[in-house]
Amino acid sequence: MSEFFVSNHPLIQNKMALLRNKETGTKEFKEIISEVAMLLCYEATRNIELVPSKVQTPIAETEVNVIEKKFAVVPILRAGVGMLDGLLALMPTAKVGFIGLYRDPETLKPVEYYCKLPKDVADMEVFVTDPMLATGGTAIAGINFIKERGAKKITFLCILAAPEGVKALKEAHPDVDIYAAAYDSNGLNDHGYIVPGLGDAGDRIFGTK
Ligand code: URA
Repeated sequence: MSEFFVSNHPLIQNKMALLRNKETGTKEFKEIISEVAMLLCYEATRNIELVPSKVQTPIAETEVNVIEKKFAVVPILRAGVGMLDGLLALMPTAKVGFIGLYRDPETLKPVEYYCKLPKDVADMEVFVTDPMLATGGTAIAGINFIKERGAKKITFLCILAAPEGVKALKEAHPDVDIYAAAYDSNGLNDHGYIVPGLGDAGDRIFGTK
């Protein structure tokens, strides 16, 4: 069964207070999204497999543990890009893919308009990023497309999760662990925004409003 992890780390909670504040400007908001993503990445990689190895220190040979697994980070366009640098700060050798989706106005189904993934994604541990897990529609569709390319181990990272999104994502992808910096149990308002939330994450990251 998959995990739904919500951070209770004081550093993350303090940064969430700044993100939620409507007075926080674009530059600071973008920086804090990246910092929270990095702290969340630290939590989400806690159970990564280690392989015993040996190194020679300046003094003696010693046993060490190393990560051999290959990682991919896949932001969902556009807001997921705001979390990318934070993950790459901890996983600098990760390969990066992008997935873009829009909602067809007639069928209301998510349609993939862009997908560029590392070619060996099937053998990688994939971290999908999207700051707001609201209805879950985008996350579910994005992960569908990534699974179609063969990926087997996928973790979803968001800044803020709502009950509707967590439930939908767990039902659609019970094998995908979800890591959130915070959880708003009030759910969504009539416009699909998380309450109290932090507003439109994409607009606040990229200064488009
Ligand atoms: N997307 C956002 O950017 N904010 C929300 O509250 C919900 C979805």
